Amino acid sequence: GNIPPGISDSLAVLEKQRSTAETFGIPLAVLLEITHRCPLQCPYCSNPVELDRSGKELTTQEWKKVLSELAEIGVLQVHFSGGEPTARKDLVELVKHASDAGLYTNLITSAVLLTREKLSELADAGLCHVQISFQGVEEGLADRVAGYRNAHRKKLEVAKWTREVDLPLTVNAVMHRQNLHQLPDIIQMALDLDADRLEVANVQYYGWALKNRAALMPTVAQLDECTRLVEEARERLKGRLTIDYVVPDYYALRPKKCMGGWGRQFFNISPAGKVLPCHAAESITGLDFESVRSNHSIAWIWQNSEAFNRYRGTGWMKEPCRSCEFRESDFGGCRCQAFALTGDAANTDPACALSPLHETIFKQAEREAEGEINRFLYRNFAGGTLESENDA
Ligand code: SF4
Ligand code: FES
Repeated sequence: GNIPPGISDSLAVLEKQRSTAETFGIPLAVLLEITHRCPLQCPYCSNPVELDRSGKELTTQEWKKVLSELAEIGVLQVHFSGGEPTARKDLVELVKHASDAGLYTNLITSAVLLTREKLSELADAGLCHVQISFQGVEEGLADRVAGYRNAHRKKLEVAKWTREVDLPLTVNAVMHRQNLHQLPDIIQMALDLDADRLEVANVQYYGWALKNRAALMPTVAQLDECTRLVEEARERLKGRLTIDYVVPDYYALRPKKCMGGWGRQFFNISPAGKVLPCHAAESITGLDFESVRSNHSIAWIWQNSEAFNRYRGTGWMKEPCRSCEFRESDFGGCRCQAFALTGDAANTDPACALSPLHETIFKQAEREAEGEINRFLYRNFAGGTLESENDA
């Protein structure tokens, strides 16, 4: 459950292509979280702490209706995500339906449930792109982070098959204090796997990840080295490998323009059919999200529903955002992070140096990064939590 920066990147490109008059028009790319089920137990999972149970998931027919509706209203790309999208038995059918409707389809997967046969079926069904997440560069650490035996070996295998069936591959590497030292090898791994894109995505701390912040938060020195390596590799690999880079915004002075601004360029649909401004939006209590199962169309929900309009634009802002010169460039940062750290989603995201809480939180993160806690609290779909057996 991690939002790939590639999506926001491609959004930015697509967004430039359309006129200003159409801003707030239907987004061109949509993330479909077709299930929250997942065999992995990543401690940095960004999905909400409360997951949708499989009994609440939209049926095959309901997803097909959603896909047709998305194509009709002008969406161009759909990203099948989760949880683990391949945990749904009807994935090939859904990809086929999307592809027949003219949608560009991307599969965002942990890969561990895929077989060579299933991958060929997906390719035949019209799948356009595969993104595989990696937890490290060798089995020991990678499998410990994923909480899944042989996960790393399986991922390498599926990455190879992906290229064999001639699908473009993105390697998504989720980085944190316990694996940042492997970055040079991860870059080499992406090259060896013939990926055309690598996402160096430092963990973002909301959802489940917040519970593991002390075990994941990188040090300032690690992050500086990471930035240096990414810049050097971008230069060296120009034309061969595109590298997207996301830094944990605890170490930034200004927050990220999360989701391109609430309700501006992006929505996703949860396993149970809720239309959400971002994948973590349900962590904000007191907001009601409309469902595709309601009487409203998806276009109506996007334009008119209370949840999308609550933090759209700048009118909802309090100080210091309200009178800040950057309010139109970052829209006050991330609403989910503001809620998780301050209890009010309308507050300035504490990642911003102008937030009265910035100093406290930054210092705390710095202390955690220098600390000794390496033990993970694993995410377990069965509902339980597990602690890591062996510390790093
Ligand atoms: Fe952005 Fe608000 Fe910080 Fe200004 S005060 S930089 S608008 S988050
Ligand atoms: Fe929800 Fe940033 S993750 S607004």
